[in-house]
Amino acid sequence: MPVSKGAEIAPAKGKLGVLLVGLGAVSTTFIAGCEAIKQGAAEPVGSLTQMGTIRLGKRTENRVPLIRDFVPLAKLDDLIFGAWDIFPDSAYEAAMNAGVLEKDLLARLKPALQKIKPMKAVFDQHYVKRLNGTNVKTGANKMALAEQLISEIEEWKRKTRCSRVVMIWAASTEIFLKPHPVHKNLAAFEKAMRENHKAIAPSMIYAYAALKSGIPFANGAPNLTVDIPALVQLANDRGLPICGKDFKTGQTLMKTILAPGLKSRMLGLHGWYSTNILGNRDGEVLDDPESFKTKEESKLSVLEYILQPEVYPDLYKDFSHVVRINYYPPRGDNKEGWDNIDIFGWLGYPMQIKIDFLCRDSILAAPIVLDLALFLDLAQRTGMKGVQEWLSFYFKSPQTAPGLYPEHDIFIQLMKLKNTLRHSRGEDLITHLGLEYYD
Ligand SMILES: NC(=O)c1ccc[n+]([C@@H]2O[C@H](COP(=O)([O-])OP(=O)(O)OC[C@H]3O[C@@H](n4cnc5c(N)ncnc54)[C@H](O)[C@@H]3O)[C@@H](O)[C@H]2O)c1
Repeated sequence: MPVSKGAEIAPAKGKLGVLLVGLGAVSTTFIAGCEAIKQGAAEPVGSLTQMGTIRLGKRTENRVPLIRDFVPLAKLDDLIFGAWDIFPDSAYEAAMNAGVLEKDLLARLKPALQKIKPMKAVFDQHYVKRLNGTNVKTGANKMALAEQLISEIEEWKRKTRCSRVVMIWAASTEIFLKPHPVHKNLAAFEKAMRENHKAIAPSMIYAYAALKSGIPFANGAPNLTVDIPALVQLANDRGLPICGKDFKTGQTLMKTILAPGLKSRMLGLHGWYSTNILGNRDGEVLDDPESFKTKEESKLSVLEYILQPEVYPDLYKDFSHVVRINYYPPRGDNKEGWDNIDIFGWLGYPMQIKIDFLCRDSILAAPIVLDLALFLDLAQRTGMKGVQEWLSFYFKSPQTAPGLYPEHDIFIQLMKLKNTLRHSRGEDLITHLGLEYYD
């Protein structure tokens, strides 16, 4: 992670390849969105890299550039997309199936989307019970599959003439896996790949292939994937940035906005009940208890870390936290998430907050994919390697250094992100102390 203040950043020369694992609702909404924005048909709403600004120096200096003018990010026009999926549908067909974007818009983008055909996936139904597809690689063992990915990436990079590539996992949530001794170091991990060990999930094979190919990797699902010592070691050895896990959208986004506010006013919490109805393929996969378990773990940890019951036992000890996701096909990607929050105030008097968030999952996730692709590429050109904690802003279950608890408060996450950018450009960090204005 660390980089010296104001370090040289290599320019964003040439094309940036964005390789997506999974060409489903999130990936196609991301790709189609980039194409629509490039054509001037839409604005990049929700994207910090495209719309966000960053204050520099004192409040009186009036220096507030756009982030994309402050740090050298790749331009949307320089992005090239590639993907793997277990279904052979092109990005156009997959976007039509996902049903997130309007047919009229997709029809206009059809020429660009139709060209994106998924490469054969590394897939095993043991890890995603509800899916079964035909566009799948075969190989003698997991290492052989990784080697196929590595040569495919090399060939793709050559064909598309990209100068740099990043990889993002936007494929289905795999079953819950616990850290295993074979994840402990690279030698054990590689041996386990050759022996087809059960503890090596397909997502880990992609992450391994990316890192071996000199490509930064982000994990948008809650699977362990790159959050294991063996792959952190590989990323550090190769000087590559990595981050995860699980894009922070919808209900968890709301939690990490609201909970820090309640805590800042020392309001107590008896319980937080969250339920969702969701009808897309992601919802179908999460209907399997083993995949849901992975998601549940990722969603549950957020409140504990933000509210710190061990520090504030009178306010937060033993609050109930329940999360449910129900697969309900009529809703498609337009999820509805309800929260019932039982809080208490002065003298312990109870109050309730109800949230009914009629959200669009992939509309919230797509700008995250864009920002992560651009920031990971920036991190690599800045010489930042290993776990990128400053990108916690984008994740439900941020990956951190071993033994360090993750920061979930979205406002702290944003400050961390912007301070990292200031630091990388040799600007003073902003502490919000502000005493100098009153000297
Ligand atoms: N949409 C959100 O708001 C959001 C938020 C956080 C996390 N996520 C996660 O992002 C992922 C993608 O979400 P989505 O809504 O696009 O789901 P989706 O089901 O529409 O797309 C996932 C795609 O991945 C493919 N796939 C599964 N295993 C694969 C493998 N091993 N290799 C290649 N392709 C594979 C599937 O065939 C499918 O097309 C899910 O894991 C989801 O939990 C989504």
